[in-house]
Amino acid sequence: MTVPKPLDQPDALALDSIGLVADMANSVAAFDAARAGAEAVEIPWKPEAIRNVAICGMGGSAIAADLVAGAFRERLRVPVGVVRDYYLPGWISDDTLVIVSSYSGETEETLTACMQALERGSPSIGITSGGKLAGRYADEGIPIVPLPPGLQPRAAILRLLVPLVVMLDRMGVIASAGADLDESRDMVSESVATLGPDVPSEDNGAKTLAHSLLNTVPIIWGAEATSPVAQRWKCQINENAKAPAYWASLPELDHNEICGFEGMGEFGPMARLVMLRDPRHHRQVGRRFELTREIVEPAVGGVLEITADGNSPLARVVDLIMLGDYMSLYLGLLRGVDPGPVEAIGRLKSGLSATSNGQALGPA
Ligand code: PA5
Repeated sequence: MTVPKPLDQPDALALDSIGLVADMANSVAAFDAARAGAEAVEIPWKPEAIRNVAICGMGGSAIAADLVAGAFRERLRVPVGVVRDYYLPGWISDDTLVIVSSYSGETEETLTACMQALERGSPSIGITSGGKLAGRYADEGIPIVPLPPGLQPRAAILRLLVPLVVMLDRMGVIASAGADLDESRDMVSESVATLGPDVPSEDNGAKTLAHSLLNTVPIIWGAEATSPVAQRWKCQINENAKAPAYWASLPELDHNEICGFEGMGEFGPMARLVMLRDPRHHRQVGRRFELTREIVEPAVGGVLEITADGNSPLARVVDLIMLGDYMSLYLGLLRGVDPGPVEAIGRLKSGLSATSNGQALGPA
């Protein structure tokens, strides 16, 4: 008789106190609501007045911007920069579209950057569930894509990502993203059907991957459109599985990180290299993955290669996001931790707000 694997047991999700795994089943509905919500927002700004775009955010609210900029990198008509800082760079001015993305609307770096954008007269759009950001933008008459409250920011990834695509399309920054969104929606639907908790481990790529990464330190590598996906996987392992993980990007890592594997020593057997590959990588990037693997493989406990599926880059990014999200949640459950709460982030934020005396919305 075969013994069911832990993730296939009836009580497998018992530790998941806020139902993050169960909520993944609502991903298609979340995708549709996000698209409709962003399409319904009235934008007073004229596309021809925009010379570049800055997307301000932190953590789960910022990675959506990197993912979109990565997926559409070859189709961006104007520069798009992601700002994860208090201060805005000097190039942001009154012809920069500033999209402020903060799930809670309370993140101090994002709020400070948003205040500077207002001072510079930048046309802005907010993506938020509320907080000070929603209040301030409502006062100023600035459009807001409203998000439903009560979610973990990282679990709202589709609700944050889809509006960015819609807004960049509507503002003429990327042309005709409709087909990309349609295919991505199908990808979400397929992922829910094939990776959800009811699909047994032997047929479930996310559960299999979680088992392979249990008791290891994952090092996630991506390139081009999969670079921000590598970062997302690392952050999801950190937050959902409460475990260390690291990420890097090719070709850059071939110019530095590759040397560090010589000194792996006792850490080597614990390290698992995960390569997130895209069938449309530049030919030389494909060669680099292979050659770099040959060089570093002896120094680590194992190497896993995962290739994104899908026609459009956005669909391939979404394919990997869904796999990484499920995998990290399952990894948390296998580790015996509750994937939901992120106590360390909460402690840090309360410590900061106690000392900032509510001044985070203003300049330094
Ligand atoms: O995953 C998280 O909870 C964090 O990374 C948050 O996204 C980050 O702290 C920023 O908060 P918010 O997304 O509410 O702006």
